[in-house]
Amino acid sequence: MLVSFPIGLWVTALIFNLIALGQDNGSLFAAGFYCVIAGCVGAVLAAVAGTIDFVSVVPPQSSAKNRGLLHGSLNTLVLLLFIYIAYRQGSPAVRPDGLTIGLMVIGVIVLGISGWLGGTLVYRNQIGIDRRYAAAGKLKERTLTGWERPVCNQSELADGQVLLAQVGTDRIVVGRCSEGLFAFSDHCTHRGGPLSDGALVECTVQCPWHGSQFDIRTGRVVAGPAEEKILVHEVEVRKGEVYVKPKSTQKSQPAGKEPKKAA
Ligand code: FES
Repeated sequence: MLVSFPIGLWVTALIFNLIALGQDNGSLFAAGFYCVIAGCVGAVLAAVAGTIDFVSVVPPQSSAKNRGLLHGSLNTLVLLLFIYIAYRQGSPAVRPDGLTIGLMVIGVIVLGISGWLGGTLVYRNQIGIDRRYAAAGKLKERTLTGWERPVCNQSELADGQVLLAQVGTDRIVVGRCSEGLFAFSDHCTHRGGPLSDGALVECTVQCPWHGSQFDIRTGRVVAGPAEEKILVHEVEVRKGEVYVKPKSTQKSQPAGKEPKKAA
């Protein structure tokens, strides 16, 4: 939401300056100067929100992580450029020279490229959007100190619902389908999309980024573009608590219908 401020204000600053050039209008040059300053403030605020998203929401080892890095780098470059533009002009009473306006044009072009990347992050990668269907409920998230800790209670998940657990650097999704509870990696093997954000229908989860589908019982690819199966984890239910075992490519065991005895 905050990106509207730097984009709108910096583009407006350029428009004001171009019109002012034709009319030799000092008031418009001054308005352009103030727009540049206000855009810099808006950019700093947007950068705070963007950094939080980059660190906490964008899935690791994904195409969105690389895209986010490029997006953030270009935005930082543009912010520094507009700070320099304001510094060069120095005051609203000063008419900007040709180089200053040229730099503004370059800034707006780079801003357009970076904005396109940002739009891709939001609309294709769905960063900051909960796009799961209503019956999936609100996504539950847990951070575990180790694999020996229970992920959740088996009663917490209804059919079609998932839970995202962070165990060290691993992001594990526990989901319930008609055949019980299953656990699998949150990492889509296509481009790293977050499967916990996808729809779980029957025992198939669909990646929200490009629609790959995986059987959560085996990790098998049901539909592409992904070609490689996802990692599945063994699940065990003891006294109603759900435990997930570390990485395994073996077929996952259903749990949750018939609670197993403690190992
Ligand atoms: S990242 Fe492309 S389908 Fe999952």
